[in-house]
Amino acid sequence: MCGIVGYIGKDQAVGILMEGLKRLEYRGYDSAGVAVLRGGEIDVVKARGKLDCLRRKLESTPLSGSVGIGHTRWATHGEPSDENSHPHLSQSGEVAVVHNGIIENYAPLREKLTAKGYRFQSETDTEVFAHLLEETLKTERDILGAVRATVRQLEGAYALGVLCTRFPDRILAARKDSPLIIGLGEGCNYIASDIPAVLPYTRRVYLLEEGEMAQVFADHVEIYDMEGEPVHKEVFEVTWSVDAAERGGYAHFMLKEIYDQGRAMRDTIRPRIKDGRIDLSEANLTDEMLRGVRRVVITACGTASYAGQVGRVLIEKLCRVPVEIDVASEFRYRDPVLDPEDLFVVVSQSGETADTLAALRLAHARGCKVLAITNVVGSTIAREADSVLYTWAGPEIAVASTKAYTTQVLMLTMIALHMALCKGTLEPARYDELLKELQRLPDKAEEILSDVTPVQRYAARFFSQEDMFFIGRGLDSALCMEASLKLKEISYIHSEAMAAGELKHGTIALIEPGRLVVALCTQGSTIEKLRSNIREVLTRGAVVLTIGYEDSDAEKELTEYRLTIPRTDDLLAPALAVIPAQLFAYYCAIQRGYDPDKPRNLAKSVTVE
Ligand code: G6P
Repeated sequence: MCGIVGYIGKDQAVGILMEGLKRLEYRGYDSAGVAVLRGGEIDVVKARGKLDCLRRKLESTPLSGSVGIGHTRWATHGEPSDENSHPHLSQSGEVAVVHNGIIENYAPLREKLTAKGYRFQSETDTEVFAHLLEETLKTERDILGAVRATVRQLEGAYALGVLCTRFPDRILAARKDSPLIIGLGEGCNYIASDIPAVLPYTRRVYLLEEGEMAQVFADHVEIYDMEGEPVHKEVFEVTWSVDAAERGGYAHFMLKEIYDQGRAMRDTIRPRIKDGRIDLSEANLTDEMLRGVRRVVITACGTASYAGQVGRVLIEKLCRVPVEIDVASEFRYRDPVLDPEDLFVVVSQSGETADTLAALRLAHARGCKVLAITNVVGSTIAREADSVLYTWAGPEIAVASTKAYTTQVLMLTMIALHMALCKGTLEPARYDELLKELQRLPDKAEEILSDVTPVQRYAARFFSQEDMFFIGRGLDSALCMEASLKLKEISYIHSEAMAAGELKHGTIALIEPGRLVVALCTQGSTIEKLRSNIREVLTRGAVVLTIGYEDSDAEKELTEYRLTIPRTDDLLAPALAVIPAQLFAYYCAIQRGYDPDKPRNLAKSVTVE
């Protein structure tokens, strides 16, 4: 999704802006642009396509100046084109703006401005802001007051970076429902939509809160609330390194992140085990509170919602409480029945997903306390939730989520185990057994990753298929959804996840000779039923690839295509069985010649509805 970067200091801005934009590429974009202030004018260069297109344009039209803003755009209003790319200039050219989010009332604002004689160069919602600010500056001489008056007229979400020729010594910034940070340098400062953009230069940042605005000068930063009152802010020190946000020898971020899962799992589990027990006191979840939980509601989007599906099965099985799960984009609009006594859980890697954030706010409005499982410290969801459990996966750059999923699954597993112990729904001996096995998972993940040749072989064998099916039962059925999504996201192979028993109620009509069906085979209690389902598709000519335990011979008689994981407790299998599925998707994408880190049409962090 769109990315913002800005620089003010003594150095040439363009190089720094381009470097920042490169670090935001992972968010997904289809055009990019930069604007630089020079001698009372703003120069803009923008281009449809990847950053290389912009770079080529900058070679023929170099920009010089030490104050600038840049943007990567993921089209919402108006197709990807040079004109629709940001930054957008106001009519006279005195204002330039970059914007993340959506200005929902842009149509009436555009009409009003058009009637006043403003001519629009693009189809975007963003351009209205540039003209509106220019219009406001006719009567309001103070730039901060003018920006405040302008954003007050906006409905929707925004993170804004603004240059104004009349105030060449500063960048203006404002946020509502879309993240924005300020990086603090030595004799220079930065703005960015995301921390990695400024990490090569500084680890000291301010995290702007909802409704806050800032004037960023080269030597200091002023932050204000919507009433224009100064806000004192603590500096947030970024603890993870720039290396963590780089590829480190791997062909792609996605592969690096798949391989990072052992470490990520360890970091997520270890600090929470104290004296042989799971300790979630960091989230203020007291034993008494958990004992009293009568219902759990989980909401999330995409991969995080599929981690939630695994969580649902585990919590119901272990804690004997009903769990409701819904994708946030549906949940927020269906007038859900909520009880303030519910344990309301949102799951989000980025902590910024617009729908998940809206669901959190809805839960708050209904009097629920919200527990967030997120990967990003200081993210909006982390800040607005009542309690937070961080997945310590480290920065996840690849659009297709991998280590965030496994750590979300582990976090939900730990919640289930801990709550079950508090409620007395799990025998202490069984708890101990599961806890011991949980701690073995990181090593077992690394064992899977120590030899990926079988996955490479099968990807090479099956990559040209246009349709695939993933089937499983119980926890495997939940896992199928994530396995199928991974394949779709990066290899563009159409695939469907089916509860294996449901296949025969319609979808089996699509099984034809040679069609690949991937069967997840980790759930002992239903494995016989699953084998019957496998036979059903085999007799219709399908080819079956299984993902199951290495010591289970039962699948051998059914198929020669098998991917295996080390034996673990069935309840803990999803965090391991997902790894071959991730690798399979990755290598299918490679075989098909696609870049898994830059999947078409997708964004890492979806901060619009
Ligand atoms: C986007 C990403 C997905 C992610 C989803 C939810 O669609 O491409 O990988 O699962 O957003 O993101 P979140 O940051 O809330 O987990």
